[in-house]
Amino acid sequence: MREFKILVVLFAIVGFTYYGIEPYAHHIMHPEPVEADFNFKDLKDIDSSLKGDAQNGKTLVEANCVACHSIESQGHMPLMDDATNAASYGVVPPDLSTAGNLYNKNYLANFIANPAKAMHLEHKYSETKPFPMPSYNWMTPKEIMDIVAYFESIKAKELTHKESFENACGRCHSMAYAGISAKTPGKVATSHFGSTPPDLSQYIKSRGEHYLHSFINDPQNLLKGTAMPRVGLTQETQEDVIAFMEETGDRKKDERNALGIWVILFFVLMSGLAIAWKREIWKDLH
Ligand code: HEC
Ligand code: HEC
Repeated sequence: MREFKILVVLFAIVGFTYYGIEPYAHHIMHPEPVEADFNFKDLKDIDSSLKGDAQNGKTLVEANCVACHSIESQGHMPLMDDATNAASYGVVPPDLSTAGNLYNKNYLANFIANPAKAMHLEHKYSETKPFPMPSYNWMTPKEIMDIVAYFESIKAKELTHKESFENACGRCHSMAYAGISAKTPGKVATSHFGSTPPDLSQYIKSRGEHYLHSFINDPQNLLKGTAMPRVGLTQETQEDVIAFMEETGDRKKDERNALGIWVILFFVLMSGLAIAWKREIWKDLH
């Protein structure tokens, strides 16, 4: 009877820890990631259903954007090297050859009109510390959609997972395991953002796919106040970026998953043998 009481107390303590304390602590430390919104519904200043004219977009981009951004596929080379660019703007402006591949249309249009707002970074910038790219909210929504149509018209046929990562994240983040160094030197990034964009080689393991899907789509949901911008990727590009993080940081995942079934089969077989063996030894007593 005494043993039974001890067992009951033990169950009560374990049960309380397992069903009471652990889920509570888990929910405080790892809030459930919010599902990614690939339509960027909160961005409504520019009506992205307007049909743009790529030819006029080209004229607008050449007049307004190539002073800072290269578009190498169209022959607009960078005017300065990465270090000088970083020193001038705080972040190296990305090459725009693949903007039509990477970004969701609604995000891109609203980003051009008001970058800090689309990135959910208004808390980080002010009149005294303006966002490094100007807002083009003086253009008409139609003109902005012309620019979007232009990027759509010059987009690359297909991007490798690595190219998607480099174009979307590589101005800020390194990925040492894949030999990629951030375009913006770490020291400049740290003083510009107030925190260092981490090397992402191992983030697929430490954060997991679900977290990353939610985080890239809107970092503020998971790290309130962070300097990491919302990167308005299409669902497809975001999947490619995360696939690249997995191919680099967790190469053995498929092998590991494939091994599981063999381990289970091994246990089933061993259990069968153990039962047969026990029967054999005890058969005279039963
Ligand atoms: C004064 C320099 C400057 C000009 C002019 C400029 N940009 Fe930028 N742009 C930047 C910088 C710097 C960044 C990177 C900012 C960051 O990530 O914090 C950037 C980022 C971007 C991005 C990446 C958005 C994302 O979510 O990652 C796009 C797209 C872009 N610019 C498009 C344009 C277009 C289109 C124009 C012209 C209409 C333009 N830019 C004009 C400096 C500029
Ligand atoms: C304009 C710069 C910039 C770009 C572009 C950028 N990041 Fe970041 N990122 C940051 C900064 C700064 C931090 C550090 C944030 C902090 O400490 O609050 C960060 C942090 C992170 C983290 C760590 C989150 C955590 O839980 O600690 C991950 C993961 C990440 N970024 C992924 C990405 C991916 C993937 C992309 C491309 C799709 C990307 N970032 C694009 C600046 C950037």
